[in-house]
Amino acid sequence: MALLQTKYAGLTLRNPIIIASSGLTDSLEKIKDLERAGAGAIVLKSLFEEQILMRSEELMNMSDAYPEAYDYINEYVRVNDINNYLNLIRETRQYCSIPIIASVNCYDMGSWARFAREIEAAGADAIELNILRISTKIDEKYGLYEQLHIDILKSVKKEVKIPVTVKLGQRFSNVVSMVNQLKANAADGVVLFNRFYQPDIDIHKLQFMSGTVFSCSTDFCNTIRWIGIVSGQIPDMTLAASTGIHEPEAVIKALLAGASAVEICSVLYQHGNAIISQMLSVLDEWMQVMGFDSIDEFRGKMNFSNVGDQSHYERVQFMKYFSNRD
Ligand SMILES: Cc1cc2nc3c(=O)[nH]c(=O)nc-3n(C[C@H](O)[C@H](O)[C@H](O)COP(=O)(O)O)c2cc1C
Repeated sequence: MALLQTKYAGLTLRNPIIIASSGLTDSLEKIKDLERAGAGAIVLKSLFEEQILMRSEELMNMSDAYPEAYDYINEYVRVNDINNYLNLIRETRQYCSIPIIASVNCYDMGSWARFAREIEAAGADAIELNILRISTKIDEKYGLYEQLHIDILKSVKKEVKIPVTVKLGQRFSNVVSMVNQLKANAADGVVLFNRFYQPDIDIHKLQFMSGTVFSCSTDFCNTIRWIGIVSGQIPDMTLAASTGIHEPEAVIKALLAGASAVEICSVLYQHGNAIISQMLSVLDEWMQVMGFDSIDEFRGKMNFSNVGDQSHYERVQFMKYFSNRD
């Protein structure tokens, strides 16, 4: 058996498979099952500040409470929801031995640091910042979107000592420069990429509906491109590859491109926890056939700096493909 251990964001993982933040990681029982199934680490379901605010509003609308009661209900829901989350961290810390990474998404700029402090005190091994936002304002200046990521990271890093990672969305004009700025502001790891909720339109009912919730394996090409480019230029930033990892071979490809770990979600919803051990055996067998004893021996071997011809990562048109076809 090859050595599957890896280091990500300062954490030592028994193997590179991290379970991505989702409904799969929102209870102690599910997390224990995932640990038994072989997961290397778990990212808890995100604590969404906006969801907490929406729940207090719902409660206010349902009750005949006086407007003066709003602050009370608001604080009650907030404390209750945050406490449930902190209890989940405490319980998983008590019953699981793999690293537990908490995940937050805040609405109010000041809340990120406050949530992070409480998460650290509850015993999480690291925090993943789930910065869910897209730029839609026509007059927003270039760079503000990127600056928001830096400001959030700085506000959290000031408050906690545990590793802080940033999970990026897929829409940056320059991913490698963004990651470099995160590194300059002491990010301990970066996840490339989150997959946001996708909108769709029902043309018969003229209503909005949810787009495809799960990724598919073709989404992985974008992930591997940016893992390879970023890892080649910022080798000391640990990266987790996410979005589109469905096939066991994709785990190997992500590591070759320079990731230290992968975060998987859709494939688990679709195929169950058994996929974790399948991915690990394919990785183990491949390492033995290739003569690699540890992940460090081949991680990044195919990244932007290590491949002779960088155009493999940069090529964006189909000229080569079409030149070989009728
Ligand atoms: C049902 C569902 C719930 C999710 N919830 C969260 C969440 O709470 N926080 C988060 O950062 N990402 C969330 N995600 C995104 C996943 O963590 C992951 O980044 C994304 O699905 C891409 O990985 P995949 O291709 O393996 O699915 C969710 C995804 C799905 C499908």
